[in-house]
Amino acid sequence: MTPAQIALVQSTFPKISSDPDKAAKIFYEELFALEPEFRELFKGDMEVQGRKLMDMLAKLIGGMNRPESLLLPLFNLGRKHKGTGVKKEHFRPFGTAYLKMVEKMVGPAAFTPELHDAYLDIYKLAAGVMRKAM
Ligand code: HEM
Repeated sequence: MTPAQIALVQSTFPKISSDPDKAAKIFYEELFALEPEFRELFKGDMEVQGRKLMDMLAKLIGGMNRPESLLLPLFNLGRKHKGTGVKKEHFRPFGTAYLKMVEKMVGPAAFTPELHDAYLDIYKLAAGVMRKAM
């Protein structure tokens, strides 16, 4: 990622992190609308799950200046996904739902192609490491 992309993401992320419960709710609504059968993979409380997801997203975005610091946490997160029924091909709809959530949280006017691509690059980094760990 370029420094400009990192700055773009970090300057818009407060619009998401200021209401993590709403962001998580939007995310899972989008995800389950795309892939209803994913619902049964999640065994725990979805509010707790949503907070864990948003905490991880905050950690990723905060760490973009030093991506090497994210490798071990992402690797460990990927290993945790092993045995949960999550498959490598699930990452594509998960990424689509994540970008929809970003769009809804920042608003259509701020969701420029540049912003889309910057948020997508973060997802690609995270998903790439996690999928290798699986
Ligand atoms: C970059 C991609 C992803 C991120 C950042 C992410 C993040 C997380 C986090 C932070 C947790 C909680 C782990 C813990 O309890 O310590 C988790 C659990 C989980 N994730 Fe993901 N995840 C990703 C991809 C996926 C995909 C593609 C699926 C497939 C639907 C998925 C399904 C699950 C499930 C089923 C759990 C366990 C929930 C439970 O305990 O019931 N994740 N994920």
